[in-house]
Amino acid sequence: MVVRSNERTSMVGGGYYNQNSSLQALVAEECGGLVSPADCQGKSVTLVDYGCSEGSNSVRMIQKAINSCPEDSTVTIVFNDTPANDYNSLSDTLDRSLRDTENKSSRRVFPVMAPQSYYQQVVADESVDIGFSTASLHWISRLQPASGDLLPSDADVSAEVLADILRFLRTRYHEVRTGGHLLLSFPVDGELNLKCAYPSIIQCLTDLAGERIISQTAASKFKLPFHFRTPEEIAQALHAVQGKWQVVEHFYRDVPHPDFLQFQSSFAESASSSPNAAALEDYCKAISGGFTAIIGNTVVDTARVFRDASSSGKANSPEAIRTKMAEKLHQRLRGSNFWKTPLGNKYVFLKLRKI
Ligand SMILES: C[S@@+](CC[C@H](N)C(=O)[O-])C[C@H]1O[C@@H](n2cnc3c(N)ncnc32)[C@H](O)[C@@H]1O
Repeated sequence: MVVRSNERTSMVGGGYYNQNSSLQALVAEECGGLVSPADCQGKSVTLVDYGCSEGSNSVRMIQKAINSCPEDSTVTIVFNDTPANDYNSLSDTLDRSLRDTENKSSRRVFPVMAPQSYYQQVVADESVDIGFSTASLHWISRLQPASGDLLPSDADVSAEVLADILRFLRTRYHEVRTGGHLLLSFPVDGELNLKCAYPSIIQCLTDLAGERIISQTAASKFKLPFHFRTPEEIAQALHAVQGKWQVVEHFYRDVPHPDFLQFQSSFAESASSSPNAAALEDYCKAISGGFTAIIGNTVVDTARVFRDASSSGKANSPEAIRTKMAEKLHQRLRGSNFWKTPLGNKYVFLKLRKI
């Protein structure tokens, strides 16, 4: 059996992911909106966010759940991510959120961190009222050549990702109390997607190799660590756990990137057939920042694992690689026609009740 307790995935920290994840923020808010007061009754409520990153989207989502808890309740919130996550940044986010007068309520709130892969149990049996996970379950680090357990090229990816989600659901089954809920959302296969930016990502890696920021091998080996499940793959997973999890909500939503909408509105107002330069500049900046936030560390890992034998000099620092990546990606997007295609993702939203 594959044990994936040693997952080391992480978003770019230091506040960078928080500042560059506006698409994921919309999804997290919608997920938080699926909580009803009936889901969190009792004097003591426990909420867990699996794959919370630096926390800004997480706290927006969790705040909605807290508002549904009884006024006199005590709410424990467990923030989970891999051990490689930036927990200092998460701590700053939580501190700010708890001090924010807008978030003040009569409930007593206790944040806790759980730095372990969610493919293993991270909290005690039957302790969770509501578990959340947004924008994480499409993340398949074994698709990355830098991963310690890279999937072989002839692997049945569909079967592997089915095994992943079943491992996630079966582990959560131990943690969530009977009658408790899981609220999940992740990007899926759909017409609305991020693919129009992919050619610029590949070109940006070639540019980084050209400037010897990363090796040619790293640039050519890199793969995006995502799998966008089809509705059939999701149905198969739900079918496999049907005696354990009851499906309360299951719907799909196209979520356009807010910066795409912003760009589009400025463009629609202009009489010209070419976009407003300032609006395009802002759009490219937002999208290069968004991609750097999610895959910047994966590029760094790939560069570390695939160093050319000829590259005897000092390796570039992770910070230098990420900064250059954002810069090059911005330039490549600026020089491309990606802005002509709607950008965003289709997401599945699932509310499951433990039977
Ligand atoms: C794109 S971020 C989403 C963060 C946040 N949920 C949001 O919606 O903005 C995906 C997060 O999932 C985390 N993640 C991926 N695999 C994980 C695993 N096996 N265990 C725990 N966290 C994981 C990553 O480290 C990352 O922080």
